[in-house]
Amino acid sequence: MDSFLVSSNGPLKGSVKISGAKNAVLPVMAAAMLTDGVSRIGNVPHLKDMRTMADVLRVTGCRIKESENELSIDSSDINHLEAPYELVKTMRASFYVLGPLVAKFGRCRVSLPGGCAWGPRPVDLHLKGLEALGAKINITHGYVEAICDGRLKGNTFSFPISSVGATANILMAATLAEGSTVLQNSLIEPEITALAEYLTDMGAKIDGIGTRTLIVHGVEKLNPGNGDTIADRIEAGTFLAAAAITRGKVKVTNMVPAHQGALLECFKNIGCKISQGDDWVELDAEGMSLSPAHITTLPYPGFPTDMQAQLMAVLASIKGTSSVRDTIYSDRFKHVSELERLGADISLKEDTAIITGGSPLSGAPVMASDLRASAALVLAGLAASGQTKISRIYHLDRGYENFEGKLALLGANVERVS
Ligand code: EPZ
Repeated sequence: MDSFLVSSNGPLKGSVKISGAKNAVLPVMAAAMLTDGVSRIGNVPHLKDMRTMADVLRVTGCRIKESENELSIDSSDINHLEAPYELVKTMRASFYVLGPLVAKFGRCRVSLPGGCAWGPRPVDLHLKGLEALGAKINITHGYVEAICDGRLKGNTFSFPISSVGATANILMAATLAEGSTVLQNSLIEPEITALAEYLTDMGAKIDGIGTRTLIVHGVEKLNPGNGDTIADRIEAGTFLAAAAITRGKVKVTNMVPAHQGALLECFKNIGCKISQGDDWVELDAEGMSLSPAHITTLPYPGFPTDMQAQLMAVLASIKGTSSVRDTIYSDRFKHVSELERLGADISLKEDTAIITGGSPLSGAPVMASDLRASAALVLAGLAASGQTKISRIYHLDRGYENFEGKLALLGANVERVS
């Protein structure tokens, strides 16, 4: 298992090119199953999760070719309507094959994903949505069996809790349903909008894209899709946070500023200077004494839960009392104890972390627990005196392409050791 050796090398400076978004390419890969033919996806990031999703699709009979940053997915000969536990347990997003398979073939069997590092991750909203479209759901031996006689039937369904994954799964299923489907309390994360646009390119009929109510007019069949993956807004935010914690000046390029949502406001509120263009954002914190902040995560365009660990590391480096409340995952705080090992002063109360920032961070051996917690530990290591050794960084490889290489280009001392 690889580890990172991180040591401070002063403020990060320079520019970094953002890769395609993990959370956008995964549902689009599943969407390719809805057609018979070869779909193309461009600007694909080379990530472990993308390879896992490719393995899940191959198990069903899809043929996948990877070249440079492109994927071609041939879903003409899907012949095994199952996603096995061995794969689904390693990546929850494998569950995205459920909607497409039951919509196209009338049945499928997908392993329940189980929990993750920070706690249970239910899928009840996915199942309720499919039942609303006429699927019969049976859970046995850790697998979800979904069956429907003939085609799924369009219906109106309101998500009791807004869910990215459930919105994606039911949206994909509804594209082939008989009649129209109204999905209320959907989410408008850029990755959902990108999926809806890719499905539209395949011939799906979707109204209300970019709003919380999606209206899908089912069609009999979809054509192969062709589109490029949007830039990863969380990778972009992570590099902006790296600039802030090292009091540096970094320009992230090849990204969509509008997709940063409330994040840019947050950086401005703590005192960073933010400038931006069509496809870039620059954060300048050089020589600045930043201010504490109180952050609450919300669905897009609110502050993203996938950035709360990284911002917690930044707030630990800022004198004063800050807080981070996660309303999406009230228990997503595995990084707190590891940040404390680096000298951060953080107390947890239910879904809120109180950070008393300003005491100097000092390097120590720590352990990555999940993707964004690992990123937070790297950021803290960049600001800590002495060396920080972060073990189990396979978590990072799931969602950050060449993270150490990109950081090194900005002047960071990050070495991967096996
Ligand atoms: C997606 O996960 C992202 N993953 C997550 O990013 C992200 O943190 C999350 O959305 C929230 O924005 C991908 O896109 C692959 P949810 P997802 O369904 O879809 C509850 C990362 O770091 N819920 O929006 O699994 C759930 O417990 C990852 O890149 C149910 O109760 O998240 C949570 O409290 C981590 N029942 C809330 O909804 C369900 O059936 C939001 O979860 C589904 C979800």
